[in-house]
Amino acid sequence: MSSPSSAPSAPLSDSLQAILYTPSSSKPASLKILNQLLLPHQTVYIPITSAADAFTAIKSMAVRGAPAIAIVAALSLAVEAEGEMARLASKTSDSTSIPTEAVDVAASINGKLRYLLGSRPTAVNLAEAVGKLARVVDGAVERGADGDGVRKAYVEAAERMLVLDVQDNTAIGERGAEWIRAGHEKRRKLRVLTHCNTGSLATAGYGTALGIVRSLYGKGLLEHACYTETRPYNQGSRLTGYELLHDGIPCTLITDSMAAALMQKLHSEGDSLAAVIVGADRVALNGDTANKIGTYALAVLARFHGVKFVVAAPRTTIDLATPSGKEIVIEERPPDEMLSVKGPQVLTGSGTAIDIKNITSISTAALGTQCWNPAFDVTPAELIDAIVTEVGVAEKNDQGKFDLQHLFSISEVK
Ligand code: MRU
Repeated sequence: MSSPSSAPSAPLSDSLQAILYTPSSSKPASLKILNQLLLPHQTVYIPITSAADAFTAIKSMAVRGAPAIAIVAALSLAVEAEGEMARLASKTSDSTSIPTEAVDVAASINGKLRYLLGSRPTAVNLAEAVGKLARVVDGAVERGADGDGVRKAYVEAAERMLVLDVQDNTAIGERGAEWIRAGHEKRRKLRVLTHCNTGSLATAGYGTALGIVRSLYGKGLLEHACYTETRPYNQGSRLTGYELLHDGIPCTLITDSMAAALMQKLHSEGDSLAAVIVGADRVALNGDTANKIGTYALAVLARFHGVKFVVAAPRTTIDLATPSGKEIVIEERPPDEMLSVKGPQVLTGSGTAIDIKNITSISTAALGTQCWNPAFDVTPAELIDAIVTEVGVAEKNDQGKFDLQHLFSISEVK
C-alpha cells in the first residue's frame, strides 16, 4: 500500500480532545467542545454553558460520535447546575428564579434531559445516559437530599461518565487488538480497514474502533490502516485521517466505493485485510448494529472476501430493550449535507497550500436534485464476527447467535 500523497496539508493540532471540561472541583466548572465542522482545517473550541448550547452543537454535528454526544449532553447540564448553585450562594439578582426545592430541581434537570434526547435519535448512548442520570436525580430526592444535594449528585454522575469513557475505550482497544491478533498468528503485522470516525474526536478520548487501530499500532502489530472517506459527511477523510496522521500511524484514504477493489487487490496478491473494524451507534439485543451509512456494505464485502468484521463499542451502546435492527430509528440528515462539500480553498495548483480562513461550501449536484440521506444503516448480526466491549468480546454461539445480555453480568473492566 503506497503512502498517501498530494493531499493539501494543514497544521495539525496538538490536541485531539473533542471535549474540554474543567470539573466542578476547580470552580467554576466549564465545558468547551472542539468544533468538528471546521476540522481538519481549523481548531476552534466552542463554549457550552447550557442544555440549549449542547442541543445545537449535537444537532449541527459540531460534536458527533455516539459516546461524545452523550457526554456533552450530560456535562452541559452539570455546568448549568454548577452555575445555579453559585448564583444561589451569592444571591445574585437572577437567583430568585432558580429552583431550590429538591423535587423542583429534579423536575428541572429531568425536563432538560428529555429535551436533549430529541437532538439526535439513532445513537443509544444519549438515551442510556439520560436514563442513568434521571435515576441518579430521582434517587437523590428519595434519599432526602436538598436542592443542592440533587444538583451535586447529578454533577458527580455526569463527571464520572467522562472519566469512564476513556477507561472503557482503552480496554476496548486492548481486547480488540488481542482478538484480531489471535486470529492471525502467522502474520507479523496486520492491515485493517475502518469506516467513519470512532476516535478521540467521537468519544471522551482514544476511541473505540480507532482505539483498536491505536492499540494494534502501539503493540507494533499494525502494518497499515486504510480508512474510508465516509460519504456524504466525510468523517473518515476529515476526522479519522486527521487523527491517524496526528498519531503518525501508517494510513491510506480510500473512497467508500473503493473498498471492494481494495479487498480484491489484496486477495490477488495473496494477502488480505486482517479485519474491518467499525464503531456503533446502537447494537440491538440480537447483535444487529446501527452505524454510519456504508457500514452494511462493508460487512457484505468483508463476508464475501473472508475478512473478519469487528464492531467496537462500549456497553452503553448496547440496547437490550431493542430486540433487533428492525426497531432502530434511522436519522435522516438534511439534503445539503449530501449535495455539497465544505472546505477551504486550495491556493496552489500543486495542492500543497490551503487558505484555512476561507472555508466555503461547494455544490456537487445538479440544481433541483432530490436525495435520500440516511445517516446510518443496520448491519445484520449474521455478518458480524465479533462485538468488542470494555468487559469482553462477544462472538456468536453454535446457533449463530450473540448473547449480549451476558456482557452485563460482568461487573467491571478487568
Ligand atoms: O453521524 P455521526 O458522525 O455522529 O456518526 C458517528 C458514527 O457512526 C460512529 O461510527 C459511531 O458513533 C461510533 S463513535 C465511537
